[in-house]
Amino acid sequence: MTTQLKDKKGADTATLTYNGSSATLPIVRGTENETAIDIEKLRASTGLITLDPGYGSTGSCRSAITFIDGEKGILRYRGYPIEELAEKSNFLEVAWLLLHGELPTPAELQSFTSEITRHTMLHQDFDRFFDALPKDAHPMPVCSAAIGALTTFYQEPESEHQLHDTIIRLMAKMPTIAACSYKHSIGQPFMYPMNRLDYSSNFLRMMFGIPCEEYEVDPVLARVVDLLLILHADHEQNCSTSTVRMVGSSMANLYASIAAGISALWGSLHGGANQKVIEMLEQIEREEGSADKFLARAKDKNDTTRLMGFGHRVYKSYDPRAAILKKACGDVIERVGVSSRMLEIAMRLEEVALKDDYFVSRKLYPNVDFYSGVIYQAMNIPVNMFTVMFTMGRLPGWIAQWIEMRNDEHFRIARPRQIYVGSPKRAYVPASARGRSA
Ligand code: ACO
Repeated sequence: MTTQLKDKKGADTATLTYNGSSATLPIVRGTENETAIDIEKLRASTGLITLDPGYGSTGSCRSAITFIDGEKGILRYRGYPIEELAEKSNFLEVAWLLLHGELPTPAELQSFTSEITRHTMLHQDFDRFFDALPKDAHPMPVCSAAIGALTTFYQEPESEHQLHDTIIRLMAKMPTIAACSYKHSIGQPFMYPMNRLDYSSNFLRMMFGIPCEEYEVDPVLARVVDLLLILHADHEQNCSTSTVRMVGSSMANLYASIAAGISALWGSLHGGANQKVIEMLEQIEREEGSADKFLARAKDKNDTTRLMGFGHRVYKSYDPRAAILKKACGDVIERVGVSSRMLEIAMRLEEVALKDDYFVSRKLYPNVDFYSGVIYQAMNIPVNMFTVMFTMGRLPGWIAQWIEMRNDEHFRIARPRQIYVGSPKRAYVPASARGRSA
């Protein structure tokens, strides 16, 4: 492969020569100078495809939503640094930013907030949906199924106006569905949403309130929930976002695409890691708090144990979200007035791991899930709800990415190829003649 040749218009190209035929491929540069070889025409001109399991060297789209520099630990939504948004913004403002590309005017934010506030209730028939599920159902598949089920209540064709309504409904009903999935699992009656409360306070009340008592939402904890939602709101082409885009590329509707994204997020190597982090910290505590013993297992190639909440496909330095959450951990713990053994163990683990050559040489640092679980636990949010919290945060990012994908001038159904390594052609053998030689 030769790079840096110019095409007739003076743009950079790369030429790949194989077996006598060659392809001159355009070089594409992003705003921050990230560089890619555009291989769209590669197969047509050479017969070759590229092979990249896990897509470590593959860009699947051009996107104007989120920028990450994994080497420098930079994360920006629509150009705004995550640190500034975390400090100065709120979740609905960030959601608008992701969806529309610009920060909202006060009037736009007010109208967006008020529309969302007025669509938080679920159809009464939804009670029967929850009734049909086992009592001990994990809230993640409940949420995925519930979001998928929303499409059966709203079956209008996908016009632009209808898409607007779908976005409002998804954003508005997600916290209600999340809280109902929890209430269902503990057998308590569902709490109706309360319109005078903001997004995060409303969620906390639906989670922890009970119909027979007043529930005062702690504004400090509501702000922490808002912060967590902001930090999770988008993260470019990760596993669940790519799933949302891929499902949507078949022209499946937004509800169906988001339901698929929730399923992808549930896995322990992705959003499910926050639950696994607390389980890991609890295990270490049961084993008398030995970080070193646990790290030895995580480093052992014959052991499947991993240091959960550590490592990232893109970040090769400290995940900026983890840095913000580490600080927030202290604030929450001080507020709720508990000492957190989990935080102590987490900090000790981090300290030891960041001095250990195994983690240093592989550039493995804490990711967003390392400290979020400690915060959720201090706030009394049950472990099986951790990934649901992540889902609530990621929702506007998924929606923004889905819309961008549908409006992309390069839009095509997502359909990777493969290298077939199975049996060559062979003749069918009737059952009576089949026997396996030992
Ligand atoms: N503990 C121990 N070793 C690790 C860890 C870890 N957490 N993460 C990576 N490694 C090692 C791998 O064993 C591998 O070692 P090797 O080169 O000797 O074979 C090397 O580091 C590279 O790891 P890969 O698995 O190839 O990295 P990849 O980019 O494919 O995976 C992932 C990234 C899945 C996040 C991985 O680091 C991991 O499993 N982390 C723990 C789970 C986790 O925290 N997931 C949440 C990610 S953030 C998010 O999705 C919201």
